[in-house]
Amino acid sequence: MHGRVKIFTHGCQMNDLDSQKLYSELARQGYQATDDDEAADLVILNTCSVRQKAQEKAVSTLGRLRVLKRHKPGLVIAVAGCVAQQEGAALAEHFPEVDIVIGTHQLHKLCDLVAEALTRRQPRIETAFGECIPSMDIVPDKAFLSPGHRAYLNIMQGCDNYCTYCIVPMVRGREISRDHAAILSEVRLQAGRGVKEIFLLGQNVNSYAGGVPFPQLLKEIHSVDGIERLRFTTSHPKDVSPELIECFAVLPKLCSHLHLPFQAGSDRVLKAMNRNYTYASYLKLIEDLRRARPDMAFSADVMVGFPGESDSDFQRTLALIKVVRFDVLYSFKYSPRPGTAADSLADDVALPEKSARLDLLQSLQKRITLENNQARLDKVYEVLVDGPSPRHTHQVFGRTTHGAIINFAGSSSLIGETVAVKVTRANQNSLTGELI
Ligand code: SAH
Ligand code: SF4
Ligand code: F3S
Repeated sequence: MHGRVKIFTHGCQMNDLDSQKLYSELARQGYQATDDDEAADLVILNTCSVRQKAQEKAVSTLGRLRVLKRHKPGLVIAVAGCVAQQEGAALAEHFPEVDIVIGTHQLHKLCDLVAEALTRRQPRIETAFGECIPSMDIVPDKAFLSPGHRAYLNIMQGCDNYCTYCIVPMVRGREISRDHAAILSEVRLQAGRGVKEIFLLGQNVNSYAGGVPFPQLLKEIHSVDGIERLRFTTSHPKDVSPELIECFAVLPKLCSHLHLPFQAGSDRVLKAMNRNYTYASYLKLIEDLRRARPDMAFSADVMVGFPGESDSDFQRTLALIKVVRFDVLYSFKYSPRPGTAADSLADDVALPEKSARLDLLQSLQKRITLENNQARLDKVYEVLVDGPSPRHTHQVFGRTTHGAIINFAGSSSLIGETVAVKVTRANQNSLTGELI
């Protein structure tokens, strides 16, 4: 097989990693990656269905690809990811230009399916759920790591939590963990390639159950020579154990940042969402984590307008934001998803009200983010340099242990190095600094 492949990736970091893996597998078969839609012989659409809008994005990209295929009948179109899993054969029926529909447990079969599609024109649908997920063990080629000193590892997939609004358990399946020995050997391999930062991924990464408890896995990875930084996402508050909190006290390579979605501040709404924690217990976790690691930074996901959310419920969400003072908040309007428990409830917060709540929340968060950045002025941070600054020539950017982005004057020879940088300016979404 040879030709050019382009992958469109939507959705979360898990999908980004899956795309890195697909590029790697296809490169091993002779495919070259391209950015140019028109030049591609194979296009893969790696999709997300977490909100209605995400799904619409997949459908609109598919619309463009159909047009492309009219000019280039030999083009092979594959749809992967969560929309593929959800829609299955219906996708190929609606879009006869689609050659392959591949689900979230079947990615390892993609190369074989492409080979078949090249010889026999007939849609191939592979969306079964399995007992294991072989693609978790695919190691991306170094060329597809971005940046080259950071490796993402998928250590578990799926979700057993069934938050009442969420489609993820339906499209990623039950929780399946990757064997811890396989994870450790990939970490060693990546360290041998010069990787300095390991970023563990899973829909509920801290409910990992692949032979050792999650805190033990962190300790084992922490002891691998060459690894300087360790991060993980996404964590569910109910699985933040005392042992995990303790890791932030005793593992210096573990970065001072946790993404801990809280979704809502009202206990009544949290219960209706089936989140299994309260306003008070969430805050207690934040306090315990700050006790273990005083400079801990937090980010989270939150939504407005869940069915039945009153203005006073929403005020609890704002209150929580004011107390925790997150660095970054990913905020969404509730969107009913097919097959979820909440889909049977009336979507009774009117759209203008959802928008007004979201605006209020985002302007509060904007102020906190800026103030958090201002509090970092004149401080010196260790920064792992990720790449050339996208906006300024002769500048590079990197991340502090808190996950904050910092731009500073420096040459590209610093990429992949850890350097000390003093903060000289606080911007809305980043810092500016100078190399010390
Ligand atoms: N635990 C998951 C969450 C995935 S979904 C993880 O691995 O990140 C990411 C975020 O999307 C959720 O935290 C939630 O805030 C939001 N979300 C999920 N379903 C939603 C829905 N139906 N409407 C609006 N936002 C939703
Ligand atoms: Fe969705 Fe809840 Fe599972 Fe996260 S924990 S993936 S929000 S069901
Ligand atoms: Fe979207 Fe699937 Fe990730 S629904 S958020 S791509 S797990």
